[in-house]
Amino acid sequence: MPKQYEIAVIPGDGIGPEVVAEGVKALDAAASKTDIILNYTYYDLGGKHYQATGEILSDLTFKALGTADSIYLGAIGHPDVKPGILEKGLLLKLRFDFDQYINLRPVKLYEGVETPIKGKRPEDIDFVVVRENTEGLYTGAGGCLKRGTPDEVAIQESINTRKGVERCVRYAFEYCRKRNKGKKLTLCGKTNVLTYAFDLWERTFYEVAKEYPDIQVDYAHVDAICMWMVKNPEWFDVIVTDNMFGDIITDLAAMIQGGMGIAAGGNINPEGISMFEPIGGSAPKYTGKQIINPIAAISAAGLLLETLGEPEGALHIEKAVEKVLKNDLKDIAAGKMGYSTKEVGDLVANYIN
Ligand code: IPM
Ligand code: MN
Repeated sequence: MPKQYEIAVIPGDGIGPEVVAEGVKALDAAASKTDIILNYTYYDLGGKHYQATGEILSDLTFKALGTADSIYLGAIGHPDVKPGILEKGLLLKLRFDFDQYINLRPVKLYEGVETPIKGKRPEDIDFVVVRENTEGLYTGAGGCLKRGTPDEVAIQESINTRKGVERCVRYAFEYCRKRNKGKKLTLCGKTNVLTYAFDLWERTFYEVAKEYPDIQVDYAHVDAICMWMVKNPEWFDVIVTDNMFGDIITDLAAMIQGGMGIAAGGNINPEGISMFEPIGGSAPKYTGKQIINPIAAISAAGLLLETLGEPEGALHIEKAVEKVLKNDLKDIAAGKMGYSTKEVGDLVANYIN
């Protein structure tokens, strides 16, 4: 009997549905090669749905998503919805309420893809960022007083718990060992200024490190990480960091790997339901034009299979992505690929088949 998985699909806003369609195509091709069955349930969520119904995410929908084995997300964000509403009400809510405490972002310069960093080759840019995904500045802790007056006060606090930090750090060590590449884990922090939060991170990091004598450990401040990422990206194997720093450095990382069109991420609860997404956003101005690169969404689908415990299917997708980038696409930027979004998805599926 082939193994069956239930996949909840949230195509979302803007170009989300276009790229998700190509990701599902790749998933189906990989499933047929590895004798697994993927059943999809589609959920109409996002800015368009919110505008039409006034609802962001009902309890009923949340419960239904909770019955899936994995969630596959396109993009959330609508030009007519005030910033923060969908991000907090949907994307961050799913990350938090499903306790997806890891945001895993592989950064890899594929052959055939141009990096803006002069002289760097694919072997120089190949690392993974493990971003804490449920704490830090993202919890919403804080408040404001006398808003809109000259005496206004705004406080936004970074929450770091021993449990939250430790489970993230442990995941990073395990991941680094399993990846078995540079066997080096770098903590990205700011111990010279954020002396409470990153004291906790640093102590936890070095305590857990004792259990991983095979892993070389390193520390760098977040500002220095930004510098090294441009100057010497080959120094990195796995980087672990908090939610806010992880958000920032992974946009920089996406650029050195060629652009948002190929940057994928997984919101992972190793003991629960994980969610996979291209990290590029909804790109409203490109909606329906079939010019966006679906490779990020397709790679996210690969991460989904990997995390479900189907590494063979994931490898099929990874190999096909490698081939398309090397052999077919002229450029990875929207509108410059030489193919439509759908055609890129077809190319990937053909390489898998
Ligand atoms: C990301 C995004 C989100 C984040 C936004 C949309 C809330 O930038 O996934 O990196 O900050 O985490
Ligand atoms: Mn971001």
